[in-house]
Amino acid sequence: MVALDGPSGTGKTTVARKLAERLSAGYLDTGAMYRVITLAVLRAGVDVTDADAVTAVARDAVFTIGTTPVRPSVTLAGEDVAAEIRGPEVNHAVSPVSAVPGVRELLVARQRRIIGEVLAEVGGVVVEGRDIGTVVAPDSPLKIFLTASAEIRAARRSAQDTAAGRESTHADALASVDRRDRLDSSRSASPLRAAEDAVHLDTSELDIDQVLVALSELASRRG
Ligand code: C5P
Repeated sequence: MVALDGPSGTGKTTVARKLAERLSAGYLDTGAMYRVITLAVLRAGVDVTDADAVTAVARDAVFTIGTTPVRPSVTLAGEDVAAEIRGPEVNHAVSPVSAVPGVRELLVARQRRIIGEVLAEVGGVVVEGRDIGTVVAPDSPLKIFLTASAEIRAARRSAQDTAAGRESTHADALASVDRRDRLDSSRSASPLRAAEDAVHLDTSELDIDQVLVALSELASRRG
């Protein structure tokens, strides 16, 4: 198993999927799980600062998450929401929702279950998120913490949004990346931080293929 943590815009998702393909492993995007719960909260019209109400929505939400690295599916109440969970409303609300301890408890338990199932079925899994090496799977044999400068991460996020047909400017992307980093790093329930034994990789000056080569080497030695 490979635990891949780090803030948004480090190339984490692209790299995690490609690495999983290369290793013929499964893939779990834990961010997508926080996003789908956030969408359920928004649809329920619940105030994101009301922890009890948010936890209740999370408990009742019926969602699925695919574990293949190629086009993993995400459904909420049977509906394909893979695109909608990447939209601006969810982007804005996901950090407060994922700071709610009740939400984290439910999702971490489900993530551990899914990881166990995928390991049993496929033999390997690449899991990406913010707290995989610290909380979800602290025994993971390989923990990687990706970083990149905020400027570079905002540029990548903006390019991704434009490619997906969403309106985006560099300034908006930078503000959004900054805000989420601040909220994710300062929350009391499992804040974004590297595990002590994580390998740090700064991707600011690297393209995806270079990151992939570095991670594949690490995985072949330790994964
Ligand atoms: O990785 P992604 O940008 O899709 O994650 C969306 C949000 O979900 C993050 O900004 C963070 O607030 C939350 N998250 C989390 N713990 C994880 C994965 C994501 O709190 N393991």
